[in-house]
Amino acid sequence: MILEAWQWLTTPATPLARRSGLLKEAIAMQARCKRCEAAWQPHYQRCQQAIREAMAQSKRKRILMVMGAGLLQDIPLHQASEAFEQVWLVDMVFLRSARRLVRDLPNVRLIECDLTESLTGLFSGRTDIVSPQRFLDEPIDCVVSLNVLTQLPLTAIRPGLHRNLEEAELEKMGQALIQAHLEYLSKFDAVRCLICDRWVAEYDAQGQCIDELDPAWGVRLPAPDTTWLWQVIPRGESTQAPGHERTHKVGRSIW
Ligand SMILES: C[S@@+](CC[C@H](N)C(=O)[O-])C[C@H]1O[C@@H](n2cnc3c(N)ncnc32)[C@H](O)[C@@H]1O
Repeated sequence: MILEAWQWLTTPATPLARRSGLLKEAIAMQARCKRCEAAWQPHYQRCQQAIREAMAQSKRKRILMVMGAGLLQDIPLHQASEAFEQVWLVDMVFLRSARRLVRDLPNVRLIECDLTESLTGLFSGRTDIVSPQRFLDEPIDCVVSLNVLTQLPLTAIRPGLHRNLEEAELEKMGQALIQAHLEYLSKFDAVRCLICDRWVAEYDAQGQCIDELDPAWGVRLPAPDTTWLWQVIPRGESTQAPGHERTHKVGRSIW
């Protein structure tokens, strides 16, 4: 706990990354990633393979951009750096471990920004969701949205942030954020690759499914061309619900 607080204080991060809770989540995710290494590695390998296939479909190789790069564990970094003239990794937060991973790769850039372009407004009381425009004019030949789509509403619609809004209005905002990200991806004149959760299920200690949910809030996503299961909370990890497990079905779509 003390180590995590120290990491929060000393990690270079924007005020929005701190205020939105994304820095705290990145630190928690790094710790969980270490604890759950055996359960998470197969997912990371599948993501890397999915990105390699998207990279191979790109005829020109000027810029590869990965949105939601985070800890960089699910990116085939060295191959990307060799294959493309430039690799742009975008996220709200990069921990020191991610900065170290790219230190010796001069054509790899870490770009800290809000992919929704709505967060500053949402955190100052506004409720409108804008259409992201950043990077659309850049010579990007392959763009990957990596395990970030279903996270976007979770950051923007935190309990207590929009107290005056009804449940139905919050749901609309969540859907609008997901829709705006999908439209944003589609606007790139590039190979577009979406990797994200398609379904989430929770199991009790007896292995019975006790909850299932659609992480895309009912928004229709492009059909996946490949899917795999990611045991995000393996048995023994949850302290709130001992013995419970949570599994995500992750899908990759290229268009
Ligand atoms: C599930 S994590 C995936 C991280 C990374 N691909 C990995 O597994 O190592 C989701 C990532 O999305 C980022 N993120 C969430 N909302 C964001 C936003 N509005 N703009 C940019 N990044 C965001 C988080 O900081 C986090 O790194």
